[in-house]
Amino acid sequence: MEKANIKWDELGFSYQYVDNIYVSYWKDGKWDEGKIQQGDRINISVGATALHYGQECFEGLKAYSTKDGEIQLFRPDMNAKRLQDSCRRLLMPEIPVEKFIDACKQVVKANEKYVPPYGTGATYYIRPFVIGCGDNIGVGPAPEYLFCIFGIPVGPYFKGGFKPVSMTTAKYDRAAPHGTGAAKVGGNYAGSLLPHKIANEEGYSDCIYLDPATHTKIEEAGAANFFGITKDNKFITPDSPSILPSITRNSLLTVARDYLGMEAIEGEILMDDIDQFTEVGACGTAAVVAPIGSIYYKGKEHIFHSKEEAGPVITKLYETLYGIQFGDVKAPEGWIVKV
Ligand code: PLP
Ligand code: COI
Repeated sequence: MEKANIKWDELGFSYQYVDNIYVSYWKDGKWDEGKIQQGDRINISVGATALHYGQECFEGLKAYSTKDGEIQLFRPDMNAKRLQDSCRRLLMPEIPVEKFIDACKQVVKANEKYVPPYGTGATYYIRPFVIGCGDNIGVGPAPEYLFCIFGIPVGPYFKGGFKPVSMTTAKYDRAAPHGTGAAKVGGNYAGSLLPHKIANEEGYSDCIYLDPATHTKIEEAGAANFFGITKDNKFITPDSPSILPSITRNSLLTVARDYLGMEAIEGEILMDDIDQFTEVGACGTAAVVAPIGSIYYKGKEHIFHSKEEAGPVITKLYETLYGIQFGDVKAPEGWIVKV
């Protein structure tokens, strides 16, 4: 397959025109077969619940080219199940796991020329989403739904790649207690745009969100989960009902435990105890594993390892996970799905 004329190593995380998208409609109580459609436009009613009442949820996963020229997905079943959880939270019809994985494969195959070659560091980001889209105006679930997937080649989410970023703590919450924080719904991200902009204006890459009930515990690192490495080499990541259950974080818990022999814990992380960590980081599909060099909190800058270079443990976590995703390190059973 001849690849598109793209400077793969210069890619950032930004939208590009896509040739082929996947669409499947839900009408009269069932999903249709679904198909690949050309172009990157969809046509929906002005009354669509997604436009007015935020009845929308999405996923993010990646396809990776391996050394021997194959393309593979990383734990797509986990994304499929999380999308089902998000759909249930918003009273939307669920997509069966097999339909989700098959649709992702169809999008990758139909856009193979945009899947970055092995060795470029770039990946193919797949964005499935579900929207309430039929004619509607009352505040209630939509009469029809669209399950759509597009994909784009991407480079690093944070400028500069695997380099420490600086973060501040947000004055706003991304989610409410007992709200939608654990679901991947568009509304959570709409609310995060302002704190993100403020963080950028203050010179930070993104902001740390604290727990919405007490504002004392760390929840998320922008659009990624948070983790820290303690002085005695434990991997700790927050345990909270209002964070998004990240697939990258779930994978890092296994990598830390089974590949690096560390103790790996999900637990409470008090902001006042932040200096217990020698290294901290953000993790997610887009962010991969991103070292956080400093966090500004209540008038003080807390530095972790260094603001210039990633720490040794985060580097090992990153290299192992990256190796698994690109097929260079043996993956745990069931993590890799060939396209
Ligand atoms: N937290 C938030 C708010 C996110 O948007 C994401 C991105 O998906 C994550 C965490 C990381 O989740 P995952 O590793 O499944 O991509
Ligand atoms: C992801 O990592 O897949 C995300 O959804 C984060 C962000 C780009 C919204």
